[in-house]
Amino acid sequence: MLNRYRKSYEKIAMGLLSFMPQEKDLKVLQETIRKYDSDANWELYLYKKDDDYIGLIGFEKQEQQWIVRHISVDPSHRREGLGKLMVQQLAELDVTIQIKPCEVTEPFIEKCLNAKEEADMHV
Ligand SMILES: CC(C)(COP(=O)(O)OP(=O)(O)OC[C@H]1O[C@@H](n2cnc3c(N)ncnc32)[C@H](O)[C@@H]1OP(=O)(O)O)[C@@H](O)C(=O)NCCC(=O)NCCS
Repeated sequence: MLNRYRKSYEKIAMGLLSFMPQEKDLKVLQETIRKYDSDANWELYLYKKDDDYIGLIGFEKQEQQWIVRHISVDPSHRREGLGKLMVQQLAELDVTIQIKPCEVTEPFIEKCLNAKEEADMHV
């Protein structure tokens, strides 16, 4: 289940964000978390399973689109469908909104969106 980010999750969020290729530098990482803390158009959600936070998805709100800026899953929980599930749950938060990738998240998000389109076609 997706949980809205709060300041008390900062360390967990930074740990998950650091799996993104562009977030390896501590200064960049701190700047990113500050952005999610301070910019009302940037929202971050953590995925909790049992008692652990094992995934993260963050996006920027732009009119009728949400641009996914970050998506990350703890390495020990990858290939279990969690990445796709987070994209699906994000889309369900507001069905009137279009989910879009940014340059860095494009390969995975496009894969999720294409899979959804194919599934919808078969309904
Ligand atoms: C990308 C990521 C979030 C996927 O999470 P996950 O929970 O393992 O994803 P799922 O189990 O839902 O989906 C797995 C599928 O995504 C594919 N995939 C994994 N990383 C991918 C990537 N960077 N680009 C495209 N596809 C990717 C897998 O090959 C697998 O494909 P298959 O279903 O055809 O076998 C995870 O690998 C991760 O945290 N990576 C590091 C952070 C990162 O690079 N984020 C940006 C990704 S563009």
